[in-house]
Amino acid sequence: MLLQIPALFSPDEVREIRALLESAEWVDGRVTAGHRAVSVKDNLQLPLDHPVARQLGERILERLSITPLFIAAALPLRILPPRFNRYEGGGTYGNHVDNAVFPIPGTPVRVRTDVSTTIFFSDPDEYEGGELVVEDTFGEKRVKLPAGDAIVYPGSSLHRVTPVTSGTRFASFFWTQSLIRDDRQRCMLFELDSAIQQLCADHPDHPSIDGFTNTYHNLMRGWSET
Ligand code: NI
Repeated sequence: MLLQIPALFSPDEVREIRALLESAEWVDGRVTAGHRAVSVKDNLQLPLDHPVARQLGERILERLSITPLFIAAALPLRILPPRFNRYEGGGTYGNHVDNAVFPIPGTPVRVRTDVSTTIFFSDPDEYEGGELVVEDTFGEKRVKLPAGDAIVYPGSSLHRVTPVTSGTRFASFFWTQSLIRDDRQRCMLFELDSAIQQLCADHPDHPSIDGFTNTYHNLMRGWSET
């Protein structure tokens, strides 16, 4: 499933976040690339322990926790601290697959990367190129969203960022371990949940709402891992 979350941050918030990102000291993204990714990665990133990364990371996690669309789609169990990247001057990240498991730094906790999320902090007209290209069973999707929007896609997908040939592309990305490991099951739950929400909105007294809601929770109970 590839799902857009519109306006996770408002234009005012994006301006504020951008000012912080622009004033930070960025480092070569290859320092955290795995052994196969290092040859295709050419971008800048904020060190994980950079104060701006920590501050904005907290802010993103807080926002996600009150965003029903993200919660319904990702069914999060644990989320890795958000990372921040910057592409300019031809910067790119060729085709790669992310590691399956990452530790949360400074803790014994490990997170399986079921769901990937990218938040765009530059508007599409601020840079050329820089599309996130995601390949999966649904084919190839090219993603370039308004600043403040996010895209949620399967952690299992092959993906790349095309070269940014002019301007600068700021973004954040992070991985989520979902209560539901399997992308197809998670997708079915999301569709069922969306249908129930729609039914509740259109026919709030419909007697079938309880039955469908019960089925949703029973599927969650059967499939979820905590
Ligand atoms: Ni990646």
